[in-house]
Amino acid sequence: MLLAPSILAADLADLKTAADQCSRGGADFIHVDVMDGHFVPNLTIGVPVVRALAACSKVPLDVHLMVSNPERLLEEYLDAGARWLSVHWEAVTHLDRMVGLIQQRGAAAGVVLNPATPIEVLEDILPMLDFVLLMSVNPGFAGQAFLPYCLDKARRLRSVIERRQLDVTIAMDGGIGIDNIRQVVTSGVDFCVAGSAVFSSEDPVATMQELKLRADSEPA
Ligand code: DX5
Ligand code: ZN
Repeated sequence: MLLAPSILAADLADLKTAADQCSRGGADFIHVDVMDGHFVPNLTIGVPVVRALAACSKVPLDVHLMVSNPERLLEEYLDAGARWLSVHWEAVTHLDRMVGLIQQRGAAAGVVLNPATPIEVLEDILPMLDFVLLMSVNPGFAGQAFLPYCLDKARRLRSVIERRQLDVTIAMDGGIGIDNIRQVVTSGVDFCVAGSAVFSSEDPVATMQELKLRADSEPA
């Protein structure tokens, strides 16, 4: 399982410390939540902050664009250092064009589905994707409760990927923590985002290590 702590839940006045903690905790990526106050009811991080974070982080950035018309700034986020980049299915008209653009620039391309968006909308484009990010909360804020029905979406997507013998990573984002990460992984997810579970804990480094351990351990 790959772990990507979400920087949104960290101390935004001290992102360098958060990046160092991710490195020491063995995080595979840092998840960066870009919100535009339009597609989602919150406004967070933009291109200059992504660039600054990429420059001071040893851990690669996974940038989650929760914005309307993501094509407007796609190139800028790639230039700023996004190694994995995902756009919402609900926000994009020319998805095929956008996925191609991300991949041409050498980054991994992902499509994000809101909790209520069925996985079937990806049927045709699935073989072209590097990853699918399933939201397990309604996007906009860290610290929301996990929506359990999203586990079934992960199970069904895993079985489609296996049946069609595709190489697509399944990521999940929202409300994941120590108590449910094992359940998320056994539902077929191979990439977990965790925000408040990591950065609201007393020891974020130890929590990242614990999350990885729990994800990969057989239940007693
Ligand atoms: C929600 C964001 C998530 C969020 C995760 O809109 O996309 O990445 O920061 O935070 P937790 O893990 O606290 O739900
Ligand atoms: Zn996110």
